[in-house]
Amino acid sequence: MIKKCLFPAAGYGTRFLPATKSMPKEMMPVVNKPLIEYGVEEAIQAGIDGMCIVTGRGKHSIMDHFDMNYELEHQIKGTNKEELLVDIRKIIDTANFTYIRQREMKGLGHAILTGRELVGDEPFAVVLADDLCVNKDQGVLAQMVALYKQFRCSIVAVQEVPEDETHKYGIVQGEMIKDGLYRVDDMVEKPEQGTAPSNLAIIGRYILTPDIFELIEQTEPGKGGEIQITDALLKQAKSGCVLAYKFKGKRFDCGSVEGYIEATNFCFENLYLKDKVTAELGKQTTQKES
Ligand code: UTP
Repeated sequence: MIKKCLFPAAGYGTRFLPATKSMPKEMMPVVNKPLIEYGVEEAIQAGIDGMCIVTGRGKHSIMDHFDMNYELEHQIKGTNKEELLVDIRKIIDTANFTYIRQREMKGLGHAILTGRELVGDEPFAVVLADDLCVNKDQGVLAQMVALYKQFRCSIVAVQEVPEDETHKYGIVQGEMIKDGLYRVDDMVEKPEQGTAPSNLAIIGRYILTPDIFELIEQTEPGKGGEIQITDALLKQAKSGCVLAYKFKGKRFDCGSVEGYIEATNFCFENLYLKDKVTAELGKQTTQKES
């Protein structure tokens, strides 16, 4: 039902300079995989196969990553390095990638509006790849798609943050309609310290209904002179319904150095090493059988 996922990836990534001076933030590796690949895997797990990427200047490596590299493939053919490309090959075979350029960086709301041509008139998911989300079972986007099937309205993923961090996020306030699910009444982008209506912070996962595009078009630049998606979502909440969902799993803010290091340590221990052990055990079993 949700067939497309939009990845706004045109931002400058200034918090990670100088690393992001000529390299897209979305291509920064967590262990041995770029951030955006984790996001694409999460979307595929949620049953989505249309990946719509909003890019900007200097973001060519994203397109190259989700394409064949025949020279490299030829070079490593028949060696044990071939297996390192198995996952990305599967992604390239499974998903369809389309791109559009955001010419001026006018904020997340504007980046989402730029993706309209790729998304069309249907509900869609949004992943901000610098928010890396992991969960043992169902990924965060899959959890949200399941909720969308039930409620058919826009959904934002939220997490509780300490009070002294609310000024870094879009903050929602709402009535809890069932465990971990809120109907949004109010939403503020980066509230001044001490003025946040709650400690429920929006993170980089959304399901949006297509009427959001009209609402973004009507939205004037807000905080920081940028067109804020929270302003458009608030209008949607007032005229219809927006849900906020306290997701199951962990989220790392890989747009900050601290969050990136935390994610790297977590993924190394919990994903990379475990996969290696499983692959090794698999090899040993195959050898024994033959
Ligand atoms: P951020 O504000 O976290 O990303 O935007 P940034 O601007 O790249 O990073 P800093 O704050 O300067 O370090 C959230 C997401 O929205 C995208 C970014 O690429 C990021 O994925 N974005 C933001 C756009 O695509 N276009 C914009 O105009 C702004």
